[in-house]
Amino acid sequence: MDYKVKIASTLSTILPDLDVETLKAKIEVPKDSSKGDYAFPTFTLAKELKKAPNLIASDLVDAMDTSDYQKVIAMGPYVNFFLDPKAAGANILKEIISNENYGHNTDGEAGHITIDMSSPNIAKPMSMGHLRSTVIGNSLAEISKANGYQPIKINHLGDWGTQFGKLIVAYKQWGSEAEVRADPINTLVRYYVEFHAKAENEPELNDQGRAWFKKLEDGDTEALELWQWFRDESLKEFMDVYDSLDIQFDSFNGEAFYNDKMEAVIDRLEEKGKLVESQGAQVVNLDDYDLNVAMIKRTDGATLYMTRDLAAATYRKKNYNFVKSLYIVGGEQREHFEQLKAILKEMGYEWSDDIEHIVFGMITVDGKKLSTRSGRIILLKNVLADSENLALAQINEKNPDLPNKEEVAHEVGTGAVVFHDLMNERTLNFDFKLEDVVRFEGDTGPYVQYANARAHSILRKAGNPEIDPEHLEISDEKVWETVKLLGTFNEVIRRAWRDREPSVIAKYALNLARTFSKYYANSKILVEDDELNARLALVQAVSNNLTESLRLLGVKAPSEM
Ligand code: ARG
Repeated sequence: MDYKVKIASTLSTILPDLDVETLKAKIEVPKDSSKGDYAFPTFTLAKELKKAPNLIASDLVDAMDTSDYQKVIAMGPYVNFFLDPKAAGANILKEIISNENYGHNTDGEAGHITIDMSSPNIAKPMSMGHLRSTVIGNSLAEISKANGYQPIKINHLGDWGTQFGKLIVAYKQWGSEAEVRADPINTLVRYYVEFHAKAENEPELNDQGRAWFKKLEDGDTEALELWQWFRDESLKEFMDVYDSLDIQFDSFNGEAFYNDKMEAVIDRLEEKGKLVESQGAQVVNLDDYDLNVAMIKRTDGATLYMTRDLAAATYRKKNYNFVKSLYIVGGEQREHFEQLKAILKEMGYEWSDDIEHIVFGMITVDGKKLSTRSGRIILLKNVLADSENLALAQINEKNPDLPNKEEVAHEVGTGAVVFHDLMNERTLNFDFKLEDVVRFEGDTGPYVQYANARAHSILRKAGNPEIDPEHLEISDEKVWETVKLLGTFNEVIRRAWRDREPSVIAKYALNLARTFSKYYANSKILVEDDELNARLALVQAVSNNLTESLRLLGVKAPSEM
């Protein structure tokens, strides 16, 4: 049961002018539990009722039927509600153990959410930044689903642009097929770097690069075949990362997909009279938005990243009819997305308001900034492999007889990196130190996984009995903090979506794991008495909410570790 709704209904019987929804929105959860489980502030009613808030609070309490609560008291300008822990707790536990989708809602009414995520560049390694985009996007997709939406995960691969002309030149002049096959991305990156070094002395290489890109854009067979091959080989490597994270996409339509869809964009801009010439190039003026002009077509007629994004946005609206269109991309592209929205608005598309750039902060490693130029590219593959090894070492130490150690080490190692990435508010920059991330104690993914595995082990020890949903009252008051947290899962899932913030879920999971561990350290669960069934229900409910929280983050929940 949603206690806010219950309290709102109680209040609405004595405040008939306000509906349950309005009242519910005003109800707060006091930080300090001595002020009750829920509180209703009365200042907002003072004007209407022409009464002092304190007086309103005490009058409300006098008029109210309080029999469903342990007590209801007026404290200054608040009405504070204390639930009967036993009855309320039993209610919460019953709901959790009998509802597979506990915490989910249908607010989204099956509306489509497109999520542009991961989107690495072909022939370049996938960076930590792309990892952030991948895991944040994946988690937001799951969170949107839990809120009743239908997400569509799109990998907008960076698979077009002048660099492909240069790559073709390099490959044809000094590359080898065997080399590329053996180690595709590293080899292609090397060709690209070598190309630039050589072009310093041989500037005609640049002209050749441009010419080959032009051929590619014109559909030349040889150019297209090479491009397709580079793309396939790169994608294979990216797929390894996605597979190890167990993340799937609904579409891999990257920039190249929009090659034949840009003319329509340019026509529309022209029709609306928004395209102006500037030094031979076609641009859109965005003074009204306080933004720099955006180039749509280069002097040589070539299109740009922006042109392809305009085509992608309109394609997505037409093809998926989204209610929201999310782009999970680092803060350094803020201006690009502001321009994108502004241009779509200029094109007359009101739905441009539904585009959201979901920014995220930067990762530093051991306090240092990463950049391709300085050579500090941290390869995601390596990070995940190191993390797995560290997890395996800890499992070998703690639980050497665990049967499927490698698999669990994979789930813990990868989960640790993903959890750490999602645990901080997404806009914050954070530092990444592998040893801190894979610890089994503290604010880490493995800590949450471990709390869940412990819950499983308690249930196993009890023989995994069928839980009787009718006898769930627990007298031990120490349990109340955990149960109350269990009961806030609905709100947590709503808040995570509202703020587009997976960290809300991660923090909840940490909090629940900690609160449960504290209870478990001070109370005996496996004692044969009348309340054993109820305590096992509690353990089951904790495990359910932890497992679901982890799932919403894209982290596995092994039952033993
Ligand atoms: N490939 C780009 C990069 O790595 C990210 C693309 C983001 N998505 C988009 N529709 N612009 O920086």
